[in-house]
Amino acid sequence: MQRIPLVAGNWKMNTTVPEALDKARELVDGERPEGVEVAVLPPFTHLWPMREVLHGSGIALGAQDVFWEDSGAFTGEVSPASLSGWCDYVLVGHSERRHLLGETDEQVHDKLARALTHDLRAIVAVGETLDESEAGETLEVVHRQIDAAFTGIERAAMARCVVAYEPVWAIGTGRTATPELAQEVCHALRVRLGRLFDADVAAATRILYGGSVTAGNAAELFAQADIDGGLVGGVSLKPAEFLQVVAAAGGAA
Ligand code: PGA
Repeated sequence: MQRIPLVAGNWKMNTTVPEALDKARELVDGERPEGVEVAVLPPFTHLWPMREVLHGSGIALGAQDVFWEDSGAFTGEVSPASLSGWCDYVLVGHSERRHLLGETDEQVHDKLARALTHDLRAIVAVGETLDESEAGETLEVVHRQIDAAFTGIERAAMARCVVAYEPVWAIGTGRTATPELAQEVCHALRVRLGRLFDADVAAATRILYGGSVTAGNAAELFAQADIDGGLVGGVSLKPAEFLQVVAAAGGAA
């Protein structure tokens, strides 16, 4: 099964709108290999103007979060209905939302389910904390997160889902998981998807690694059999280096 690699840049709560548009133009003008999908996830306020800049470039646009209802009295939240039709991806379950904002497995599921009803694509992030890692609980934690997110999701909608394995201790720390460890966990997640759905879904679903991905370590990570690209934070704010990470995914394709 040939899976198209995806490299997604999560800009988190960084950049002003003009800065974001400049970075987007750099990405549009930059060299990108054939056969690699690229997505950028700027803050919500930047999505609409970035859509103009990215139009026709082949670079996908994504939101960093989404709410689990379509409309109503939910001050400050953003509906999947308002993103549908022009925004390609939504990220759900990022560890900063799980751990800083107390987002639960159930809420992650509800966000995913609602986003999929609006034809959005979703990147579902899972990963263990340092304490959980040191306690040997990595697989238990990521299996729980995967089961909670995907149980009840229609098999057909899995074609629009991407999983991102991001060990929390590797995010923004400069401490990347070894390619062997990242591969082991991504493989376990693929097996788990096979159990939740079937072997075809397991083989077709893209699984990304995230956590201190750089131009220096991307190639080795993306060369792993079950790693189909990356979810990139810090480095995605540097277009030239981000494009090197994209190029590394091309080499692994
Ligand atoms: P990082 O962030 O690349 O800065 O570690 C990854 C992420 O949070 O998605």
